[in-house]
Amino acid sequence: MQSCLICDAAVEPVLTFGRMPIANGFLTPDRFAEEYFYDLAVGLCRHCTMVQLLERVPREKLFHGNYPFYSSTSEGMARHFKGLAESVMATYLRGPDAFVVEIGSNDGILLQHIARTGIAHLGVEPSSNVAQVAMEQGIQTVCQFFGETTAREILAAHGQADVVLGANVLCHISDLRSVIAGVKSLLKPDGVLIFEDPYLGDIVEETSFDQIYDEHVWYFSVTSVSHLMQLHGLEVIDVQPQRVHGGSMRYVIGRRGRHVVSPAVTARRTKEQALALHAPETFAKLRRRIEGSRDQLRSLLHRLQAQAKRVVGYGATSKSTTVINYCGITPQLLEFISDTTPMKQGKLSPGAHIPVRSHAAFVAHYPDYALLFAWNHVEEIMAKEQPFRRAGGKWIVYVPVVRVLE
Ligand code: SAH
Ligand code: TYD
Repeated sequence: MQSCLICDAAVEPVLTFGRMPIANGFLTPDRFAEEYFYDLAVGLCRHCTMVQLLERVPREKLFHGNYPFYSSTSEGMARHFKGLAESVMATYLRGPDAFVVEIGSNDGILLQHIARTGIAHLGVEPSSNVAQVAMEQGIQTVCQFFGETTAREILAAHGQADVVLGANVLCHISDLRSVIAGVKSLLKPDGVLIFEDPYLGDIVEETSFDQIYDEHVWYFSVTSVSHLMQLHGLEVIDVQPQRVHGGSMRYVIGRRGRHVVSPAVTARRTKEQALALHAPETFAKLRRRIEGSRDQLRSLLHRLQAQAKRVVGYGATSKSTTVINYCGITPQLLEFISDTTPMKQGKLSPGAHIPVRSHAAFVAHYPDYALLFAWNHVEEIMAKEQPFRRAGGKWIVYVPVVRVLE
C-alpha cells in the first residue's frame, strides 16, 4: 500500500479508472506516438482522510508554455473572481504596505482587479503562455512553480504578504507540504491563506467523477485540510462553499490561535462526518454510481448512433478527458467537440482523438444532441445557446445522472 503524501500513513485505493492520457494534452497526429498515459486511481488516507491520486504525472508534463487552459474564457468565472478580489481588498488589504501573492495566477483573471488599484502584488505562474497574458496587462508575475524555494525568494525580494491566494491550484500540487511551509514563511503574523478548490463533498454527492484527472492530485474536505494545516501550526478559520466548478470550497487559513474561528468550520466537519467522507464504503458506493453513469452514457450514445443522430461535445474541458476515455467514447460516437479556446481548436482530444473545433463549427451546423462537458458553466452556456434549443437541439448531461434535457 502507498503512503499518504501528507501524513505518511497508509493510503487505501478506492477508485480506479484505468490508463488515461493527460487531461489537457490536446494534440496533433504527429504527436500520437509519444502520447503519455498513466493509471488514474484515487486513494483514501485512513489517518488524515486526505483523498489523493495514487500515480502522479510529473508537473513539467502538465504545466508548460503550451498550457491550454486560459481562466478568462468563462464570463461566469470572471465575475466570480472579481467578487473574490473585491472582498479580499475590503477585508485584508487595507494597510499602506499591503502585499498579496497569488499562486497559479494564470492569465490574471483574479489579480487584475488588485493590480489595477496599485496594491503591491505578485502572481506565481509556471505556464509561460498564460503568465505572458497576465504580464501584458501589467500584472507582476514570476514564471515559476510555487514551493518553499520560491517563497524564500519572494520573501527576500518583497517581504511578507498579508494574503496568499490560490484558486484551483493547491489541489494540483503534489508537494503540498512544501507549498504550505512556503506560504507559512511568507505570511505576516496575522496574514491569511485563502484558497478554493473543487470540494470532495460535492464530488461524492453529485457523482461528478470527471473532476478526477491528472491535475487534481487532491480532493479536499474541511476535515482533511484541517489535518494538513494542523501539521504546520496553522488552522482553518473559515470555510465558504462556492457554486463554481460544480461545487467548490473556499478555505481561509491563519496561524493557530491568532484568529477567531468561524462556527462554519465545525459545522462543515460535522456534516462531513455524517456524509462519511472518511469511510472507504462511501467510495465503494460512489464507484457503483460512477459505473452506472458510464454504462448509461455509453448505451445512450450507441442508441443515438444507431438512429444516425449527430452528437457533438460542448467544451473540451480537462474533465471531459476522464469521461471520454473512461466511458469509451470514440470519434464514431461523438463527431467533434466545440471549444472557444483557439489553442485547443484544430487539435484532437487526448486519448480518444476526437477533433476539437471552434464554436462557429457548432453554430454552422447544429447537431441533434450536444453532450455538455462544460456542465459547470451550465447557466452561462444555456443563456447563450438558446438558438440551439430553438432549432430542436437537445442537451445531454451526466452530472448528477445521465439524462437528456427535453
Ligand atoms: N487560478 C486560475 C487557474 C487555475 S488552473 C483559475 O482558478 O482559473 C491552475 C494553474 O496553476 C495553472 O495555470 C498552472 O500553470 C498553475 N500551477 C500549477 N502548479 C503550480 C505551482 N506549483 N505553483 C504555481 N502555479 C501552479
Ligand atoms: P472548465 O470547465 O472551466 O475547466 P476544466 O478544463 O478545468 O474542466 O473548462 C472550460 C472549457 O470549456 C474551456 O476549454 C473553454 C470551454 N468553453 C466553451 O467552449 N464555451 C463556453 O461557453 C464556456 C463557458 C467554456
